[in-house]
Amino acid sequence: MRQGLIKVSTVILAAGKGTRMLSGYPKVLYEICGKPLLYYTLEILKSLDNTICESGKLNGIYVVVGYEADKVKNTFRNDNVYWVTQEKQIGSGNALTVTQSLLKGVDGIILVVCGDTPLLTAETLKKLIQVHIDSPKAAATILTCQLDNPAGYGRILKDKRGRVKGIIEEREANETQKRIKEINTGTYIFNPSIFKTLEKIKPHSRNGEYYLTDAIEILAKEGEHIKTHLEENASECLGVNTYSELTVVSKLMRQRIINELIQKGVIIVSPENIYIEEGVVVGKETVIYPFSVIRSNVKIGERCRIGPFSHLRGGTILEDGAEVGNFTEVKKTRLGINSKAKHLSYLGDALIGNDVNIGAGTITANFDGVRKEQTIIEDGASTGSGTILIAPLKMGKNTKTGAGAVVPKGENIPDGVTVVGIPAKPLKSKIRKL
Ligand code: UD1
Ligand code: CA
Repeated sequence: MRQGLIKVSTVILAAGKGTRMLSGYPKVLYEICGKPLLYYTLEILKSLDNTICESGKLNGIYVVVGYEADKVKNTFRNDNVYWVTQEKQIGSGNALTVTQSLLKGVDGIILVVCGDTPLLTAETLKKLIQVHIDSPKAAATILTCQLDNPAGYGRILKDKRGRVKGIIEEREANETQKRIKEINTGTYIFNPSIFKTLEKIKPHSRNGEYYLTDAIEILAKEGEHIKTHLEENASECLGVNTYSELTVVSKLMRQRIINELIQKGVIIVSPENIYIEEGVVVGKETVIYPFSVIRSNVKIGERCRIGPFSHLRGGTILEDGAEVGNFTEVKKTRLGINSKAKHLSYLGDALIGNDVNIGAGTITANFDGVRKEQTIIEDGASTGSGTILIAPLKMGKNTKTGAGAVVPKGENIPDGVTVVGIPAKPLKSKIRKL
């Protein structure tokens, strides 16, 4: 056993362009479930914090950026990480080399993760770290997995006794090597002496790139011990290099998000038919019906009912017991306790109290072409079918609008008053029925 609490410095390699995505957009900013790829890796590393594992302690997160570095840094400007710039994207080996001035003499070990493997979990990384710490002779530990279709990944080469000899990339592998199913996930633990090894890597004649994976072969040839830690759940290790891989990984992430909500007591009637992004909070006993889309940064209370066919966008808060139904879009709106908007509505930038009934087809006209304005609807109010509320305006407590009412901007409907017509005016006298 290594002695004491080991410091774990973490490096995320995120400088690559993502050539196989065939666009000029930096790969780590492509979104899955409403968040950029790099977000997931960063969140996992941040979650390790001081509880990294039994014998380790987190010692800073270093993110290597290069292609469109400013865009990437700006997206994560609130994260407490060290940014390291790789001037030219000449391979993963060089990407780690550029952290040398910061990490060469560092005490402890270095965890290296790629910025394009968002499904990795904290548990897996903790296990990997523990495996390395528990094998004091290991110069490196590689996280591997078995893939039925390993195409595109580096294959782990082992000798007859199972000792790691190196990693061969798909493009350089021969037919026998291509049949190897144990792949390199791009996640490794190294001792700080790795920087000496990196100096020995030669660029590949094919593309002039310095492969980090070549460091493994160099270490093996020098007689160093290399460990592998095989992750059983292979889907965690998938990388995103192409649009089709982005789709596969998105689907797996979506399933993970939905499963976590189900575990917490949310009732999802047909999990394969809803889309919920990362960063959505839902209280227990809330029922979500099919074909609903719930975007990031939405908070839903307990015992709510959503859908079918609802679209909840960022900044929406549904208090306990609120209901949003068919073809209703809600954006940056708070819907109070037991309030309902069940059919064909748009609610944007609205503050809606408790026990409010939003009639079918009610629209908050929140945009005047220049500015977004707020609609306030207080407790107990209700709108008639097809009401248009031109923001900014306020409906007081227990107010009502008639069917088809258009309430002009700037109105402040006093408590208890009913307004009707276009433009809506208070209902003064009641028409007697025969
Ligand atoms: C890499 C591994 C491969 C492994 C796979 C796992 C190498 C040579 N190969 O292949 O063995 O199976 O990951 O997903 O490492 N990067 C930089 N700077 C560069 C080049 C890359 O920061 O100059 C970063 C990328 O942003 C990416 C990571 O390094 O996050 C891996 O690069 P990528 O081009 O995706 O490598 P793969 O071909 O997937
Ligand atoms: Ca990759």
